[in-house]
This record gives sequence, structure tokens and C-alpha cells, in this order.
Amino acid sequence: MELLKNKIRQEGKVLSEEVLKVDSFLNHQIDPLLMQEIGKEFVKRFSDQNITRIITIESSGIAPATMAGMILGVPVVFARKRKSLTLTDHLYSAKVYSFTKKESNDISVSKDFISNEDTVLLIDDFLANGQAALGLIDIAKQAGATIAGVGIVIEKCFQPGGDLIRKEGVRLESLAELQSLKNGQVQFVGEENNG
Ligand code: G4P
Repeated sequence: MELLKNKIRQEGKVLSEEVLKVDSFLNHQIDPLLMQEIGKEFVKRFSDQNITRIITIESSGIAPATMAGMILGVPVVFARKRKSLTLTDHLYSAKVYSFTKKESNDISVSKDFISNEDTVLLIDDFLANGQAALGLIDIAKQAGATIAGVGIVIEKCFQPGGDLIRKEGVRLESLAELQSLKNGQVQFVGEENNG
């Protein structure tokens, strides 16, 4: 998705060979017009699927997921990372280990908001080690929902997440695919390295 790639070229900050900072439009401040285009692109790529619900994880998945949900006219559910006061039982849960933060979180979705009648699209902002996406896949499977696929805003293709999702037999669509962040440069898949 060229619009997104250009935004990353202009505003993305390479913090290390593994981490791209995109706080100005995705992870802190949100660019709603870009998010709307991202929502449209997800809807286009999964237009062959009869999606009934979108599932994401708080917090940065919520903006792109909501835009896709608005276009499709379907509910958007965000998995919670912390136990809430009102969300206590009646939950589907999965353990998600973050290699980046070296901690495990239980993510959960109320059984009221996903069922075996759903066809779900799973959306997240970054795909790195794939643990968050695998957690969402686990929850969708527990609910007996049909998984239309996983939609990712930025995939770091040099990390193992993409392969893990495909190994699960789940379709993956990533709107910007990073080949490398070496030498302080963003290199996208299919692009020559001029650096
Ligand atoms: P994984 O789910 O693919 O295994 O990812 P990992 O544990 O490595 O990532 C943990 C958090 O860091 C996730 O956000 C993920 O989106 C984010 N992340 C991973 N790689 C990058 C990167 O290169 N740049 C940025 N900006 N973020 C990255 P989170 O903690 O759930 O945060 P949020 O959704 O609340 O914002």
C-alpha cells in the first residue's frame, strides 16, 4: 500500500535493526485519514469473505480495526490485555508472550462478543514474532469462529510471525512489508537496497 509506505518513509524512525517507531500516525498520535485508507485496503483484500466481526488487541490495533469495521458495518472487538473489573469470567483467553517486553499477558475476549456463527477478520498494527496474532487465532478457534484471515498494518518480514501464521493455515495480508531496518534504513520487500 503505497500511501502507507510513503508515510513510513517520511515519518518512521528506525530505532534499531529490529524496531521502527511510528508514533506520529499509528502508535501514539493517529492519522485518521490514513487509518481510513488502511481500513478500505483491508476490506478490499478480504472482500471475498463474509466477515461478521473484526477482532483486534488493545491498544494500537483499535484504530485500523475500527476503520475496517466502519466500512463493513460490523462490530469491532478488542481483546483486553488486563483483567477488567467487569470482565471477569465468561471469557475466551490466550497467553501471549512478548519477546520485545519479555513478559506474558493473558488476552481475553468476552464470550458475548464472538461465536461459532462468526467469520472474523483479525487485525493488528505490527506483526513481529506473531504471538499476539497467534493469541487471537487461538481465541477465534476456542469460539469456533471461522477465521477469514489476519490483516496487519506493518509486518517485519525478517521476524518469524508471518511464517507462524501461515503455518497455522491462516491467510495473512500485510499492508507494508519491511524487509530490513539495517543501517538505519527502511527497506520494503521487493525494493532494491540503495543504502
Ligand atoms: P508479536 O506480538 O508479533 O510477538 O510482537 P512483540 O511481542 O515482539 O511486540 C510487542 C509489542 O511491540 C506490540 O505492541 C507490538 O505491536 C509492538 N512492536 C513490535 N515490533 C515493533 C516495531 O518495530 N515498532 C513498533 N512501534 N512497535 C512494535 P503492544 O505492546 O501490544 O502495544 P500497543 O498495541 O498497546 O501499542
